[in-house]
Amino acid sequence: MDKRFTHLSVMAEVAPPLVVTDPDGTYVDATFGRGGHSRRILSLLSSKGKLIAFDRDPQAIESAKEIMDDRFTIIHAPFSRMREELALRGVQSVHGVFMDIGVSSPQIDDASRGFSFRMDGPLDMRMDTSCGETAAQWLAKASEEEIARVIHTLGEERFAKRIARIIVQTRSQVPIETTQQLAQLVAQVVPANKKDPTQNPATRTFQAIRIHINSELDELSLALNAAMQLVDDEGRIGVITFHSLEDRIVKRFFDEKAHPEKALDSRLPLRADQLPQPELKDIKRVLPDQEECNANPRARSAILRLATRVHAGRL
Ligand SMILES: C[S@@+](CC[C@H](N)C(=O)[O-])C[C@H]1O[C@@H](n2cnc3c(N)ncnc32)[C@H](O)[C@@H]1O
Repeated sequence: MDKRFTHLSVMAEVAPPLVVTDPDGTYVDATFGRGGHSRRILSLLSSKGKLIAFDRDPQAIESAKEIMDDRFTIIHAPFSRMREELALRGVQSVHGVFMDIGVSSPQIDDASRGFSFRMDGPLDMRMDTSCGETAAQWLAKASEEEIARVIHTLGEERFAKRIARIIVQTRSQVPIETTQQLAQLVAQVVPANKKDPTQNPATRTFQAIRIHINSELDELSLALNAAMQLVDDEGRIGVITFHSLEDRIVKRFFDEKAHPEKALDSRLPLRADQLPQPELKDIKRVLPDQEECNANPRARSAILRLATRVHAGRL
């Protein structure tokens, strides 16, 4: 494993104890990264407890080999497949699922991964470097409309159309293959952010392309549904997100499962026993404290949402 790149886990002390409710239980860490949360979860488990971790990044999987613990298993797969992967190993249910969504610091800090507009590198941006299309391959063939749509919806970028146009004009002359090429193109058409002049004009574009290349929002929705199927009664689901698009998905999902009656037409003449039953309860939002935000700037945008699973009729 490359020791130059490390990851400082957000809410590493606070989050795992909120998910681990039974030291003898089986837990999923859906986003191993460099294992900060996994190690903390293991420290909370008894000798009977088990932790099954996932990551789609081969470098994260490599680093997980350092954990020599019989209670620990690492799986190289997207977390949307957690239910199928667990079933293959004979696990049908777990006591809790934890997710720390997004990119890890090693992914951003290693220029060769192509996630960063600060350093020059190949325009890759795949979390799983063993499969799928790179950002350069996508930008070479996507239509101008598709590029604009992705940058607008996933980057919430006002200048998405201009960015898509300059990308398509440029690629007809020269392939766009590096992070600096893309960052410089974006800087030509996006004015400096008046509220935050220190923000690189390519910030939103890079975020959008990264989310698109890794299907991050679809992955999150699928994983939440998988966690619902897996987690036992009274078990917890905990998710840390780092931007509003992801947080909105988690917040809505938890709200809908905790209050299914809200989706009904209130004019329907239903008795209390005919109302759909909640599948989640005790929804909570936890933020990192000031001390952590001062020590780790990445923590400033983090939101941990927690929910407790409730199976039919057991509220
Ligand atoms: C913020 S980091 C997690 C850091 C980790 N909690 C720690 O303490 O080191 C997110 C990790 O999740 C992985 N990841 C993101 N989306 C994924 C997905 N859909 N399936 C599996 N792993 C994913 C990334 O490759 C990255 O390693």
